[in-house]
Amino acid sequence: MTTFEIEDTYYAPFFNKIKISIERGEGIYVWDEAGKKYTDLTSGWGVTSIGHIHPVIQQALIEQGRKIIQTPNSGLTYSPERAKLLLLLKNILPSGIKSLFFTNSGTESVDAAIKLSRKIKGKATIISAKRGFHGRTSQAFAATSQADNSESTAPVPLNVFVPYNDVTAIKRAITGETAAVLLEPVQGEGGVIVPDDSYLPAVSELCRKKNVYLIIDEVQTGFYRTGPAFACNRPGIKPDFITMAKGIAGGFPFGAIAMSDDVTARIKAGDHGGTFCGNPIGCAVSFAVIRHMIETDIEQNVLNTGRTALRRLNEWKTRYPDRISDVRGKGLLLAIEFSDKEVVERINRTSLENGLILNCKSNNIIRLFPALNITGQEMTQALDKLESIINKVITGDNK
Ligand SMILES: Cc1ncc(COP(=O)(O)O)c(C=O)c1O
Repeated sequence: MTTFEIEDTYYAPFFNKIKISIERGEGIYVWDEAGKKYTDLTSGWGVTSIGHIHPVIQQALIEQGRKIIQTPNSGLTYSPERAKLLLLLKNILPSGIKSLFFTNSGTESVDAAIKLSRKIKGKATIISAKRGFHGRTSQAFAATSQADNSESTAPVPLNVFVPYNDVTAIKRAITGETAAVLLEPVQGEGGVIVPDDSYLPAVSELCRKKNVYLIIDEVQTGFYRTGPAFACNRPGIKPDFITMAKGIAGGFPFGAIAMSDDVTARIKAGDHGGTFCGNPIGCAVSFAVIRHMIETDIEQNVLNTGRTALRRLNEWKTRYPDRISDVRGKGLLLAIEFSDKEVVERINRTSLENGLILNCKSNNIIRLFPALNITGQEMTQALDKLESIINKVITGDNK
């Protein structure tokens, strides 16, 4: 049986899969089993922040793999790798953060923040935004109102959804039963929705006044995706929780929650935990990846390549005002919104044939989120290819 046949027979059908079997990767490229090369403009879904199989990741895996992979219950004993990572993270996190805890994925981080908010506040309601995405485990999924998921999200009375980028809506929604407000600094899965600069500071102030926790979900935006280490590290934003994963360890499954002084003072032994949480190999890889990003000033690369790419997307919008309704983004989290779903389908299909892996959202949005260390030249080549495909599809040259 081929890989396709085995997976189609035995792997649960949760995804509408694309028929490519990826065998290996390097930098911004991946190769399928037949040896065809693709440019991965999704960076493994916002994860391979310094490219596929970067040498610093390989080295950290080998060195730590020779020492120890799992300590006797990750949280019960101490670990020098975890201590090193904690100190490094403290340097790049906002100043109001007191403590961290490590997880294995984004949804786990969000679930923990929701659970702890409810426990500490003694209240149940979580306010989150329409078109937001927070994960697939039960509490994170219940707080997810992304358009794609709305049919499958069971109605949960303890979750209230408000329009994104609307402080007044949150003000109206907060009641005596509200435990926390949960928001992404830029909505990623929802189609790269960038709020006004004043939105999060205003929400932060409102949460303080109303004695409600603010959970900022940086699973997608964290670790330099939008330029700075964290999109919420700006004056006036004081999160009680920051949830993280994806780019934190460049491809190794790992995550974290960061907690404010107030939260840290109120948590007790037993409130949370997990067998693999803060395992030494995850900590070692995460440390290597973050240190590399700091040492190579990845923030500047993200800002420069992101700015150049957005300028280019704007040119396409000017060229095809009837077909491209919007282009937007921050850093290397970019989107092109088309007025026609069928065009996006054809662009996606043609891109795959031509060795370009894109991500299409809500059927009419193409999201670009490549590795953060993509070079200017690599970005230009990828955009040249995409531009020629868009031109052909829109002008009808490739029906
Ligand atoms: C903002 C945000 N939160 C949470 C998640 C869930 O993360 P994971 O898939 O690692 O569980 C995602 C995943 O895309 C996300 O974008």
